Amino acid sequence: MSKAQVVLGTFYGDEGKGKIIDYLSKDADVAVRCSGGSNAGHSIEVDGKKFAFHLIPSGIFHKGTLAVIGNGVVVDPKCLIDEMNELEASGGSTENLYISEKAHIVFPYHIEMDRLLEENRGNGKIGTTIRGIGPAYCDKYERSGIRAEDLISDRLEELLTVNITNKNKIFEMYGHPTVDLQKTLEDYKKYAEILKPHITDTITLLHNALENGKKILCEGAQASLLDIDFGSYPFVTSSNPSIGGVCTGTGLAAKDIGEVYGVLKAYSSRVGSGPYVTEQNNEIGDTIRELGHEYGVTTKRPRRCGWLDLVALKYTVRLNGITGLAINHVDTIGKLPNFKLCVAYNHNGKVTTDFSTNVDFLTNCTPIYEEFEGNFGDISKCKTRVELPENARKYLDRIEELIGVPIKFIGTGAGREAMIVE
Ligand code: IMO
Ligand code: MG
Repeated sequence: MSKAQVVLGTFYGDEGKGKIIDYLSKDADVAVRCSGGSNAGHSIEVDGKKFAFHLIPSGIFHKGTLAVIGNGVVVDPKCLIDEMNELEASGGSTENLYISEKAHIVFPYHIEMDRLLEENRGNGKIGTTIRGIGPAYCDKYERSGIRAEDLISDRLEELLTVNITNKNKIFEMYGHPTVDLQKTLEDYKKYAEILKPHITDTITLLHNALENGKKILCEGAQASLLDIDFGSYPFVTSSNPSIGGVCTGTGLAAKDIGEVYGVLKAYSSRVGSGPYVTEQNNEIGDTIRELGHEYGVTTKRPRRCGWLDLVALKYTVRLNGITGLAINHVDTIGKLPNFKLCVAYNHNGKVTTDFSTNVDFLTNCTPIYEEFEGNFGDISKCKTRVELPENARKYLDRIEELIGVPIKFIGTGAGREAMIVE
């Protein structure tokens, strides 16, 4: 039986997972999204056209690869249908798209609840994407969620009536606009018609694929430091974007998992609130943001930028059992004359390389840096690591030395081909 490959984000998202996924899915028979929803933003360029997908697995771009939205994903059908239309309009096909019957559906009341909760958090705002993600997962665990199998069943009207009636009571209490039951029902019946041919038992589909020796690629969304359990709670998302979510979000067993690739950038970024030890809230951060085009795919927000943090990386590598690293934007960091790498923290006078997501710990840590020289020049044509300039190699060697996991992919430019694979 073959093993599934996994691609995960190692920081706070936006590490460029799409690029690695795009490369690996060339050889994948099945590409599967495991967790999160349309809060993810994965941009890829295919034949000169840019796509920014939130829900459809990027594997769809390779002819013959089945694209699966796993049971752990929360699906906004409108967003999904828009993406399907965009794909078809540019000559692609959605024939190979499968949606788990157990995936929970995002409704307008989830989005409104997300907005209402954020508005009422005062100084403690999380900075969510307002895509209804948290409230949709809340309903799932509270057992009032509506799944894809309900969406296409006769139960929809009854379930929706109960949910909208209950949510509207809360909205009314806060003076927040309510959700129209009839309109929602009409809209979602239309979505159900469109999505019905794609909704299936993806758990069996995936099990059969592995039994038949097919290659499965698990496409991570979000990232480990946004994990509801292992991230900097409460400034996290509402799912498990780390390795555990791969099993619970697909039905694959731990023994089915093979290589786990952890994606990072040569610097770091974060959107939304929460501690960020190596943040450069200054001109350096502004320069990195412009050089790396660090603006959100989903919300267009400017991202907070800073140096790469190996204390955090050591933690997420251990947490996920990462077997290989994929480092993007090596070209970007190389545009700076010099730059820094965080190798340890000073926590109230004590040097440590042990990470903790405890917010008090993180806000009391100052980074300890090593300095590197940049000016890498154009590296986009380099096809092997030895072709890279010495300054770039020194940086990559040091990361490998301190983390103890090989770098398998090196992003050398914006284009699809600008990547060294070792
Ligand atoms: P990709 O897959 C970056 C962040 C939000 C916010 C927090 C909670 O593109 O890497 P949510 O809407 O999930 O309840 O918001 O999580 N966040 C992301 N940040 N990339 C993402 O996904 C993210 N998905 C959620 O900014 O701080
Ligand atoms: Mg993103």
